[in-house]
Amino acid sequence: MLKISLKKTNLAQTKADLTIVFVVNKNLKHFWIQPEVLKEFGYEGEGIFFDQQNKIVYAGVNLLNVDIFRESAAQVIRYIKKMPFKNAKIGVYGDEEMMQGIFLGMLLGLYEFNQYKSKKFSPILKEIFIANESFDKTPVKPLQKALDKALILAQSIVLARDAINTPPEYATPLFMADLAQKIADENDLKCFIGDEKFLKKEKMQAFLAVNRASVHPPRLIHLTYKPKKSKVKIVLVGKGLTYDSGGLSLKPADYMVTMKADKSGGCAVLAIINALAKMGIEAEVHSIVGATENMIGGNAYKPDDVLFAREGKTIEVRNTDAEGRLVLADCLSYAQDLKPDYLIDFATLTGACVLGLGEYTSGIMGHNEDLKSRFEKLALKSGELMAKLPFNRHLAKLIESKIADVCNVASSRYGGAITAGMFLSEFIRPEYKDKWLHIDIAGPAFVEREWDINAAGASGAGVRACVEFILDVTKRG
Ligand code: BES
Ligand code: ZN
Ligand code: ZN
Repeated sequence: MLKISLKKTNLAQTKADLTIVFVVNKNLKHFWIQPEVLKEFGYEGEGIFFDQQNKIVYAGVNLLNVDIFRESAAQVIRYIKKMPFKNAKIGVYGDEEMMQGIFLGMLLGLYEFNQYKSKKFSPILKEIFIANESFDKTPVKPLQKALDKALILAQSIVLARDAINTPPEYATPLFMADLAQKIADENDLKCFIGDEKFLKKEKMQAFLAVNRASVHPPRLIHLTYKPKKSKVKIVLVGKGLTYDSGGLSLKPADYMVTMKADKSGGCAVLAIINALAKMGIEAEVHSIVGATENMIGGNAYKPDDVLFAREGKTIEVRNTDAEGRLVLADCLSYAQDLKPDYLIDFATLTGACVLGLGEYTSGIMGHNEDLKSRFEKLALKSGELMAKLPFNRHLAKLIESKIADVCNVASSRYGGAITAGMFLSEFIRPEYKDKWLHIDIAGPAFVEREWDINAAGASGAGVRACVEFILDVTKRG
């Protein structure tokens, strides 16, 4: 991880190999900027420009907005990490919220997943100095707090990204359980790992059916963070499909690639509890992951099967590729036994959500309008794009089954993200309907191109948004 150090000196007094200057709104009148040099090279404040002679990197930002600064900070780091400089300095821009964005962008801008490269690129850049020249306006303490928060978030997001990016041959349900155990050991959490025997005892036939053709045994992972002082109980559930081949309703070759990322929801809830425990928040938090593969074989579950879910409902299977909702149905059932005040699931659940909202936005579903709006607002504040998708009674009819209580796919392909959410709702008890949120992260969880503060591959979608939401919940009491 990049080291960020707060200095009480101003930018000129701070010693560093390189200086980073943001050019806001093409305003080249900042005292640090030497307009002659920029004019000579025709730089007008857009994009990144490197003044070789003075060792200054200029980054144009067109808005005094934390989202833009965060992204720009990541871009600057990506640019300078290829250079032979050990450290760089930068001034303070805006308040601590703005600085937290800049810290996070810098920390994650350095991220790349190169575990499987023989020749690993290791940047010379190690440290960024923050020259806190506006010391009077932005006291050190809030800035230190912003830095601490950004560090915890970055470390947790990296944890999720690394696990999601790990190939399915290595990242099996047992790997997920080991990762959970490591997180538990490091943060003094309770860690329960349920094996096949446990799933059978719990009557989780829907979860077990999805696992049947896999050579890797399934695991239900349950981490608990229980501080002495706790105001609310939050239960998080994550889809942990370590591989989704589609099962007998096999995915076409092109669609199967990237399905190692179908464990993104599970990795997110592990990362979230890691972050919250490190922040020492005053809330009881549970993270539950349903970890399994969805494979083919002689013993695979089939379209036409009828499954008995833990909640007592029967499910007609018409497509084995709609497997996430089966695993989640049983995990959500288990989660409700914990009597949560808030129940939130994260899942790469549907391609339809990506079609509807685009690759960069997650879908928020549920029955509680106020809760959905609050989550959306806080997600956006955290820098994650999310939008509400509305349930309605007409779509509910599409998952009715002639042979069972509910069908695992809708009879129409339109509204697929919502019908998947409404399927999950079938397993939410009346008293928890208003406490439940379903977040479909299928779009942003894994993008094969660099975007915003994310490298190509896993982004850690859901982590920032949920941490922001839970911090807000605990603040309200
Ligand atoms: N894991 C996929 C959803 C997905 C698609 C995630 C693309 C990320 C990117 C899920 O299990 C799935 O296959 N869903 C099907 C549901 C359909 C059969 C009703 C889908 O979206 O096509
Ligand atoms: Zn699937
Ligand atoms: Zn899936």
